[in-house]
Amino acid sequence: DGKDFVKIVEVGPRDGLQNEKTIVPLDTKISLIERLSATGLRVIEAGSFVAPKWVPQMADSTSILTHLLRSPPPAPQPVTYPFLVPNLKGLESALPRATPPPHPGASEISIFASASEGFSLKNLNCSISTSFDRFAPVVAKALENGIKVRGYVSMVISCPYSGDTPPEKVVEVTKRLLEMGCYEVSLGDTTGVGNPYSIDVLMKALIEGGVPVEKLACHFHDTYGQAIVNCMVGLANGVRVFDSSVAGLGGCPYAKGATGNVATEDLVYFLHSVGMKTGVDLEKVSEVGAWISEAIGRKNNSKVGPALLAK
Ligand code: HMG
Ligand code: MG
Repeated sequence: DGKDFVKIVEVGPRDGLQNEKTIVPLDTKISLIERLSATGLRVIEAGSFVAPKWVPQMADSTSILTHLLRSPPPAPQPVTYPFLVPNLKGLESALPRATPPPHPGASEISIFASASEGFSLKNLNCSISTSFDRFAPVVAKALENGIKVRGYVSMVISCPYSGDTPPEKVVEVTKRLLEMGCYEVSLGDTTGVGNPYSIDVLMKALIEGGVPVEKLACHFHDTYGQAIVNCMVGLANGVRVFDSSVAGLGGCPYAKGATGNVATEDLVYFLHSVGMKTGVDLEKVSEVGAWISEAIGRKNNSKVGPALLAK
């Protein structure tokens, strides 16, 4: 893949659905992942092994992993299905299992840290420092088992609980995740409050702070409609990995005011329009966006999908 290739990490089945109040049936979740697999996407975040009393919507993630391993969805290219893991208990669910339901284990997990103390407490029930003490054995054990680890940093611009995030804090947390063994770190503008200026300042702080841009991903929520223009700033700074959610589904249960991620349809349309390649079939992914919006009774938050399908 050349310099004009952008990897899209589809987070709809996880970030997109985790905030839904009504439990989405397992069959619908699996169908969503299968439909997305057929669009050319290479990474589809499929669930999270977190405490079910914290995020009930993700409680069936073990069934999803088992299903994906037993019946890999037909796809035009190899697809990776990462799962979020906050602690060792969560990792147990990702590891190979000998007992029913047996499975050979997830190939990738994501740990999620915060750049703000307030959100760390809300989301992980512990300080940033304690969260790293808990992540260290998770990453070590995952790597021992051949499981790749991605890292997230939340609230990279500002936090509803702690206020504006100093870019140096994001640099520090990002470096710690990389040193711990994450192969990539995804920068979460969890509440979508970033603008082209603040994102540019952050990107430059990371790059000047010695973080290789190849290891960075942008994870922008679209609460204020700025996610695409913010992705443009990431792209201009050399980022080639972007997270998005089909139909713009989503929001974080522990971040007040946070709505969905940038829509995959809008991101793909934008990237193709500026000459980048994604391997994603825009029409197919637009159809998935229309289908899932209908299936869960939600407004389609993509602009591009409905416009394209109306033609
Ligand atoms: P805690 O309550 O401090 O944990 O929560 P605990 O160790 O005291 O355990 C409490 C109970 O949870 C126990 O059960 C544990 O067994 C159980 P009980 O004895 O009471 O019946 N438990 C678990 N069960 C299943 N899987 C596990 C697990 N761990 C404990 N892994 C904890 C701490 C981290 C568990 C909790 O805070 C939690 O689950 N947090 C996850 C919150 C979450 O999923 N947030 C959304 C994802 S992050 C996000 O959306 C941001 C992102 O998109 C980037 C961005 O946009 O910025 C990634
Ligand atoms: Mg998110």
